Order: sequence, then structure tokens, then C-alpha cells
Amino acid sequence: MEKYLTGLLGWIDERFPLTANWKAHLSEYYAPKNFNFWYYFGSLAMLVLVLQIVTGIFLTMHYKPDAELAFASVEYIMRDVSWGWLIRYMHSTGSSMFFVVVYLHMLRGMLYGSYRNPRELLWLFGVGIFLCLMGEAFFGYLLPWGQMSYWGAQVIINLFTSIPFIGPDISLWVRGDYTVSDATLNRFFAFHVAALPLVLLGLVAAHIIALHEVGSNNPDGVEIKKLKDPKTHIPLDGIPFHPYYTVKDIVGVAVFLIVFSAILFFAPEMGGYFLEANNFIPADSLKTPPHIAPVWYFTPYYSILRAVPPILNSQFPGVAAMGLSVMVFALLPWLDRSPVKSIRYRGNQYKVWLALFVISFLVLGYLGTEPTNVWGQFSGSWAEHLDIKERATWAARLFTLVYFLFFVLMPWYSKIDKTKPVPERVTG
Ligand code: HEM
Repeated sequence: MEKYLTGLLGWIDERFPLTANWKAHLSEYYAPKNFNFWYYFGSLAMLVLVLQIVTGIFLTMHYKPDAELAFASVEYIMRDVSWGWLIRYMHSTGSSMFFVVVYLHMLRGMLYGSYRNPRELLWLFGVGIFLCLMGEAFFGYLLPWGQMSYWGAQVIINLFTSIPFIGPDISLWVRGDYTVSDATLNRFFAFHVAALPLVLLGLVAAHIIALHEVGSNNPDGVEIKKLKDPKTHIPLDGIPFHPYYTVKDIVGVAVFLIVFSAILFFAPEMGGYFLEANNFIPADSLKTPPHIAPVWYFTPYYSILRAVPPILNSQFPGVAAMGLSVMVFALLPWLDRSPVKSIRYRGNQYKVWLALFVISFLVLGYLGTEPTNVWGQFSGSWAEHLDIKERATWAARLFTLVYFLFFVLMPWYSKIDKTKPVPERVTG
């Protein structure tokens, strides 16, 4: 049997670099030996990506991308298709868990300065993935054709109208009609199931290729490639990815699947955060829901959109701020001027600013779920007139400011921060 397998492998290797790739990317790919908890989220993101694609394919077998049939086809999947409810809940829970995992993955990058030289391009591919993921979630959300699907898409597409000169034409072009309609549903379906998954897979491949070109960073922010065994040329602080990290990642996968299953079987709607109550009502173009809010993973940006007041009746400043709040991540490699990478060796300035950033992100996320559409135009002693909604608007403004200051002031505070000496080798 062994001889037969070796023979088969030899036959393949002569025609395709299977063993060479196995060695280069797994058994002889040397990763730093000090990966910790935060390093689970890359492999978990890959797991969720596969899960979304597989469950998505099965959903497509029964879903109908037609404004007359879409809502009923999802109900049919939930009630009549064998195991349809499981596939649908896996997909809807998967989309929220995707963002949980990716947000933690990005935070890890910010904790350990993983976006810094030589990993800038790896980070930029990551930002591309993030944008693509947001698009994927937005397009997918229209497909069940519930009230929130319909009005959420209406609100977001209408935002484009505020872009000077070309805005109204862009909205019309995206929608394919004067209101969100069957044409919109069809194109969103095409983007959701074909265009964006292809781009996403391409970007993830580029992400991993870039990672394996430069090698992983680690919690100490020490470049392990700088110290190699003179004979074997293996980094002294490196261990083969397989079996060490494949086994470690399996532990992460097991814990993740327990959490995932608990949500899936006991709280798939997550109190309205993963699936909103209004989306169990079919889309009605004549009835606007009283409170339109996006799913939780978009709410920090939605808060920023609402926090910036209109100028000359134009919502463009809010729209621009929202766009910027996402795109600004791409600038991180060039904003950070610290001589060290990891938070372990940074001073208090960076630690405080990062903590403030995380707090603003969470508070903005919370505020974005609340109805707070007050622009705060007061007369007289304004504090007296503040009701609870207005206070929330002002809180959103304050945290939006902190969110942006984290990035804008980074070149300054990261440079003057009192850093600690970085060890030669990883500390374990
Ligand atoms: C579908 C989404 C994504 C997948 C499947 C993915 C996959 C991975 C994997 C497998 C790794 C190596 C393991 C690890 O370090 O955890 C990694 C590393 C990395 N990723 Fe991602 N990633 C995704 C999204 C992102 C995003 C959105 C960003 C940032 C904007 C990002 C930035 C990075 C960085 C900087 C590293 C290197 C970290 C280090 O070496 O310390 N990734 N990614």
C-alpha cells in the first residue's frame, strides 16, 4: 500500500508540485513559536469563509431571486426543505460570526503592529477583504426580501444621492430602477453569489501568498527570519506550521464550533441582533418601518454617518465620514511611526489611544442600534433641551471624534511614545 502511495505521489509530483507545496506552506513553513490566543482568528476566518460558501450553495438550490417569490422561498427553506432551517441559520449566524472573527483578527494586527514593514501589502489585501466582506453582507441582506432588507437597501443606496453632481445618477445605476425593485434584487443576487465570492477568494489567496512571502509576525513583533541556524537556515525561533499549528488551530476550531452551535441551536436570532424582527415581515414599498437600523456589524459606521450633521441640507459630510472611517485602516502602516511593533514594548500613549479606539468602536456600535435621528439644533441653554435621543447624538459625535483622532494623531503619539527595548529573540 505504502509503495503504491509513494508511487502515486511520485507520479503526481512529476506533474504537479504537491509535495513541494506541502513542504513550502505546511511542513517546512516555519512560524514563530510564540503564537497565542489572538492567532486563532486567521484560520477561523478561513473556516467561516468555507462554511458560508458551502451553506450558500445549498441555499441557492431553493432560493428564488424574484421580488414576487424571494420571501416565500426563504420561508419554504425554513419550513419545508429538509434541514433547510439548519442551512439557513448556519448561513445567517455565519455572517455575524464572520465579522466577530475578522474584527478580532484586525485588532490582533493592531495589537502587534502586524501591518508594519514588511507586511503592508498583506494588510492592504486584508483591508480589501474587509471591504469585500461588507459588500457581500450588504448584498446578501436584501435577498430575503423582508421589510429590513428592503428599507435598509433603500436607505443605503439613497446615501449615494448625496454625492455632489453624480450622486443621483449613481443611485439610479446601482438600483437599476427608481426604487428598490426586482431589478435591484436580481443584481444583488448576482453580486452576492458570484461576483463578490470570486473576488473574496482571490483576495484571500493573495493574503496568504503575501503572508508566506514575508512570514508571520508574532506577539513580540520580532522578525524571526533575522536569526537563523547557520547550518540549516531555519529560523531559531520558528517551528514547522504542520503539525504544531495545525493541531493548535484544531483546538480553536473545536471551541469556535461549540460557540457557533450554541448560537445556532439556542439563539439564532440573537435577540434581534443577528436576524431582525422586521425582516420576518415581507417587503412593503408603501410601509416604512418606524426604526431602520443595519445589522450590528455595520452599526459603528452607521453611527458615524448619523453623528455628522448635514451641511446645506446635504448628507454628504456624514457619508464621506462613514466612507473614511472604513478606508482609513488602509493608512495604518504609514501612520504608525513607532520604533517598535508590538504593544508589549510600546509606551502608555499607544495603549491609551488603542483602548480609546476600541471603546469608541463599541459605543458607536451600540449607539448605531438605537433610534437617534436628531441633528441637535438647539436654541438657548442647550443642555436643558437635551432629551435622551439628543444626548445619544452628542455621545456619537464625541466618540466619532475619538475614533478619527486615534488615526489622525497616530504619527505624533506613536513617535513620542516611550518605548521599551525589544528583545533579540521571541520571549515565549
Ligand atoms: C476572509 C477574511 C480573512 C481571512 C480568511 C484571513 C486569513 C488569514 C490567515 C490564515 C492568517 C495567518 C494566521 C493568523 O495570523 O491568524 C492571516 C494573517 C494576517 N491577516 Fe488575515 N484574513 C482575513 C482578513 C483580514 C483582514 C480584514 C485584515 C486586516 C485588515 C487581515 C490582516 C492580516 C494580517 C496583518 C496578518 C498577519 C498577522 C501576523 O503575522 O501577526 N486579515 N490572515
